[in-house]
Amino acid sequence: MFDLPDKIKNLIGEEKYQLDTVWRSESKVIIFSDKVLKIQTISQESETERSIMAWLQNKLPVPKILGYARDEKRDYLLMTKIPGEMACSPKYLNKPEQLISLLAKALRMFWEVDINNCPFNNNLDEKLQRAKYNVKNNLVDVKNAEKDTFGKNGFKNPEHLLEWLYNNKPKEELVLSHGDFCLPNIFFRNDKITGFIDLARAGMADKWQDIALCYRSLLNNLSEKYRSQTFYSLFEKLRISPERDKIRYYILLDDLL
Ligand SMILES: Nc1ncnc2c1ncn2[C@@H]1O[C@H](COP(=O)(O)OP(=O)(O)O)[C@@H](O)[C@H]1O
Ligand SMILES: [Mg+2]
Repeated sequence: MFDLPDKIKNLIGEEKYQLDTVWRSESKVIIFSDKVLKIQTISQESETERSIMAWLQNKLPVPKILGYARDEKRDYLLMTKIPGEMACSPKYLNKPEQLISLLAKALRMFWEVDINNCPFNNNLDEKLQRAKYNVKNNLVDVKNAEKDTFGKNGFKNPEHLLEWLYNNKPKEELVLSHGDFCLPNIFFRNDKITGFIDLARAGMADKWQDIALCYRSLLNNLSEKYRSQTFYSLFEKLRISPERDKIRYYILLDDLL
């Protein structure tokens, strides 16, 4: 069992909360009526998430930082709760055309942010460095990869995939990227975008990074009957020509990150 730092406890006030007795994963989120506390094992990402969130204030709808603390093991980030529902809530999954329109709009909101003074670089070389580190240190979660990434129809192992990624680098179009553009990280209310969360991987990156993960997340969340239309619908709404190779590239890369 662990306890919250006093600074955070004081900010939470009277509201009740429960902490698991066993720390099961790298991060834990406690949701209050109007606040959210994200507790993470200290890592580069837990540190970056807070600074990116601070940089994005007034640029995009992201949570406001209410407080922050660190103990020997963990980072504690207290932020405002984004109103509405996640993009993967049944309300939106049952109306895929509307869901895809909102997601296309959300992608464009990121692309419209001026990146001239953006201090966070997540370009392909940076991502490949991280992928290389994970491969060399045996940190790739092969079991949780997309089903065709490794094995009979895919790459023999992470080393082979890494080599292929280095040899097939696409030309990048740098924009502000969310970095983990999946449905549970995007919120809507009354058919409007209310906010973006889980920002540790945000920064300058190729625009196809977010398109690829958005498409993957749509396929993972939508029911079978809608899946075949998803691809064309997304590109019709984005008003750009699809590039299947780039989508495949960034989905494969994500399996090493
Ligand atoms: N500021 C927030 N407002 C509303 N819900 C949040 C907020 N932060 C986290 N959540 C909820 O907690 C879940 C996990 O938080 P997230 O930051 O995405 O962590 P993880 O890294 O585990 O995906 C989200 O999908 C969302 O449902
Ligand atoms: Mg998340």
